[in-house]
Amino acid sequence: MTERIFVVGAGVVGFASGRALLGSGHRVSFVDTRAERCAELTDAGFESSTTLELDNDRTIIALSVPTPSVDAAYDLSYLREAVRTTAEAIKTRGGEHIVVVRSTVAPQTCDEVVAPLLQSILEGSSAKAHVASVPEFLRQATALEDALHPTMTVIGSPLPEVRSRLENVFGSLGGEIRVFEDTASSELVKIAHNCFNAAKISFFNELYVLAASIGLDGDKIANVVVRSAEASTNIDYGTKGGFPFGGNCLPKDLDGLIAFAERQGNAASVLRAVREINNSLAVLQGL
Ligand SMILES: NC(=O)c1ccc[n+]([C@@H]2O[C@H](COP(=O)([O-])OP(=O)(O)OC[C@H]3O[C@@H](n4cnc5c(N)ncnc54)[C@H](O)[C@@H]3O)[C@@H](O)[C@H]2O)c1
Repeated sequence: MTERIFVVGAGVVGFASGRALLGSGHRVSFVDTRAERCAELTDAGFESSTTLELDNDRTIIALSVPTPSVDAAYDLSYLREAVRTTAEAIKTRGGEHIVVVRSTVAPQTCDEVVAPLLQSILEGSSAKAHVASVPEFLRQATALEDALHPTMTVIGSPLPEVRSRLENVFGSLGGEIRVFEDTASSELVKIAHNCFNAAKISFFNELYVLAASIGLDGDKIANVVVRSAEASTNIDYGTKGGFPFGGNCLPKDLDGLIAFAERQGNAASVLRAVREINNSLAVLQGL
């Protein structure tokens, strides 16, 4: 089924994903507060406007506005503004719409920020808005290519009809689809995805510095470890939560490498955090 889609925030994510959805046959309009961005898009042949004006009673409105880090937390001011604009547009038009948060946000943002703000503006109106989370996984350097050929799409919504319409929209792009019956799981998948990447980089950076301190090439060592370690080769290894590791090797070798690192003047912060988490989990389990 062809959907009427509005993309609010036509930057890296909004443009790439909107462009991909256009390619699947949906009618897509871009909305951006920057007039020069809208002019660029219009010149390039896309429907674009600085204001959100709904021309259909059953639209999908995808919010892909910035959520920068301010004071080491998400700044939701752009998102709140986009939600207000969206709610006003829905109130003016009437009908029943799906508001999809594509921006990266902390878990429970849809439930605790987006939905209440929408409902407070729609109060007293017969118009309805259902909030869903479909985070974007594309990489900035290859944004359009990634949006056209996603490897994974995650959809979160408590409503079966919303999930099914979004599966239809995003499923047409290909790749694996994972569906959650809540928005918070979907929100958490996205940031955990990035933090897992960050943790891997920091692990190997710590190893690199330690190796360099005794004249070894950390890149060569990482290249082997990432292929030999079961955590890399067996995709589900270590992902069943709540169970600390034990046995003869992991605790002993973790202690051994931390002690060695300390002798080299290396803080071994990642390895120490690994030990600390394991120890506190073991205490919780009474082990
Ligand atoms: N860039 C990436 O590689 C990437 C990848 C995945 C997820 N994300 C996430 O997607 C979100 C968007 O990131 P981006 O890189 O596309 O940002 P961007 O800065 O490239 O684009 C955001 C656009 O939103 C517009 N905007 C801001 N407030 C608006 C409003 N109220 N109404 C309409 N338009 C508005 C801006 O003018 C801008 O054009 C962020 O949450 C980001 O973390 C980014």
